[in-house]
Amino acid sequence: MSKLKIAIQKSGRLNEDSMKILKDVGISIDNGKDQLKASAKNFPLEVFYLRNGDIPQYLKDGVVDVAIIGENVLVEKGQDITIAEKLGFSSCKVSVAIPKGKSYNSIKDLEGKRIATSYPNTVNQFLKDNNVNANLHIINGSVEIAPNIGLADAIVDIVSSGSTLFKNNLKEVEVILKSEAVLAVSPQISSENQAILNKLQFRLQSVLKARN
Ligand code: PRP
Ligand code: MG
Repeated sequence: MSKLKIAIQKSGRLNEDSMKILKDVGISIDNGKDQLKASAKNFPLEVFYLRNGDIPQYLKDGVVDVAIIGENVLVEKGQDITIAEKLGFSSCKVSVAIPKGKSYNSIKDLEGKRIATSYPNTVNQFLKDNNVNANLHIINGSVEIAPNIGLADAIVDIVSSGSTLFKNNLKEVEVILKSEAVLAVSPQISSENQAILNKLQFRLQSVLKARN
């Protein structure tokens, strides 16, 4: 019998809440978190623990059928992937921030500036939409350090509690997008697995309704 293949963040902010929602819909998984793959005992589901940034490509290629992932990652890397369900957890923003002491009036102030980010596509689209030219520095983590070491004038990164901005003496000046965890679907899902997905969604919808 066919199984629905779902990608979950391997470690990080989404991992725990993703496992929790599967548990809440009554799916119990044989873990091992250090295993990269696990099977559900009582539902035709296989879980793959993957890195966030790799998940959009796995969806596109049909290596997995669905994924629990931040909308912001889809905006950056998975424009052609559909969202089946918004899951109501892990909300965050993707924002522009600058050193606290600098003045800021409008997006135009970013003209000609150096912006450090891990979200180049999102930033480029934002700059284009606002008719601003700036220079991107792409870095993969600890983006908030960039202005303090003289690498950039501004950053674009995820803001959740705001604590990382605060600790690095930065202030949020623009919100590019708001994001939450979603259930994303591969364009290549088979009709057999789509039927399993429908069952999963039905359960998810009742859990989400009860949570509200
Ligand atoms: C993420 C993100 C921000 C921070 C936002 O970084 O890149 O830096 O969390 O959360 P906050 O507003 O609650 O502080 P993470 O800690 O995952 O590490 P990384 O940037 O090195 O990947
Ligand atoms: Mg960070």
